[in-house]
Amino acid sequence: MTPHIDTITALEILDSRGFPTVRVNVVLDDGSVGTASIPSGASTGENEATELRDGDMARYGGKGVLAAVANVEDEIADALEGFDAREQAAIDEALIELDGTENKSRLGANAILGVSQAVARAAAESCGQPLYAYLGGVGARHLPVPMMNVLNGGKHADSSLDFQEFMIFPVGAPTFAEALRYGAETFQALKKILHGKGYATSVGDEGGFAPQLKGGNDEACELIVAAIEKAGYVPGQDIAIALDPAASSFFENGKYRLTRSGQGDKSPADMVALFKSWVAKYPIVSIEDGHAENDWDGFKAMTAELGDRIQIVGDDLVVTNPRYIARAIEEKACNAALIKLNQIGTVSETIDAIHLCREAGWGFVISHRSGETEDTFMADFAVAMGGGQIKTGSVCRSERIAKYNRLLEIEAELGAAVRFGA
Ligand code: PGA
Ligand code: ZN
Repeated sequence: MTPHIDTITALEILDSRGFPTVRVNVVLDDGSVGTASIPSGASTGENEATELRDGDMARYGGKGVLAAVANVEDEIADALEGFDAREQAAIDEALIELDGTENKSRLGANAILGVSQAVARAAAESCGQPLYAYLGGVGARHLPVPMMNVLNGGKHADSSLDFQEFMIFPVGAPTFAEALRYGAETFQALKKILHGKGYATSVGDEGGFAPQLKGGNDEACELIVAAIEKAGYVPGQDIAIALDPAASSFFENGKYRLTRSGQGDKSPADMVALFKSWVAKYPIVSIEDGHAENDWDGFKAMTAELGDRIQIVGDDLVVTNPRYIARAIEEKACNAALIKLNQIGTVSETIDAIHLCREAGWGFVISHRSGETEDTFMADFAVAMGGGQIKTGSVCRSERIAKYNRLLEIEAELGAAVRFGA
């Protein structure tokens, strides 16, 4: 029996920051159900697909999503009724056509992606498969190494850190479960170190600590190395460091302004020099958005200087959009892409973006957003795509842990077939 789409409904729910977001429910005529809740960024790229917000200042400071909910229940539900839920590409194409804009601004990428993901979930259930197997086939058995964001700065915390994310990356762990344990133990060691130095151990949006470090961004790297050692691991061998400065957020008039840490203004070339000195000093293996989204020359200089030694990840630069990824490949602006489903707005276009990365020999990292929900779609998606890297926050806060716990489940389910590694 063909599983047709029967009903599509939506609900305004809250994300991990307490802001409204969209949840979609798709029911098929064989009784299968798929649900999806959409995350939301804070340091968003300007070329991302549009998140539709009501702008009604009387509700949630203008951040309500009732219009997106209505778009799902009216126009989208009408257009998709009767579609075979397994035809993901045709459904996503229909959504893109129905919206009719370049960046999904009419119906909203939050509405469109909610439907796209919920359809995939319902179709998986109808086929009697776990989501990772439905999306990735029999080859979907490669668990990703987690990048765990243990110190938060930038737009995610009022800490003294200009850089948004300082992540631990357990590249030497033998399994996902062990990688998570390495990370959790290092996180607890870092907490003790911070406490011992009189720093606050409250956390930021992604669950990393958000202290007022006197030594700014450099001290963050030093403390992470100390925490890795305190937890009994070898920096660089068991656990490496990955960074996401999210440099668009402190780029002004051609300068990178490291104001919070008091490190002053830096040119794009100064930033390359800073990262080069850090790569020599600390076990850093991946740097994302080390330059701002429109500073293509900065990105190119960085990739020319460090691209043969470390992963240079484009996030705001390429926004999971095949068009910008193609340009970055052509111009050698980076050598890997961050992949966020809601930056582009459908499951099929996200898979297209990943194909492009693979063809270019690039790495790719499946990523959460700083505003998340309990939805674990991205964990299954990471296994389905098999890229070996996921970034979904620190080792606390349940909206982050939900993804890690889902990966633990998948690893256990796959048993002896499982593969692991970046
Ligand atoms: P965002 O941050 O979800 O706030 O955009 C994540 C990132 O920059 O990678
Ligand atoms: Zn980023």
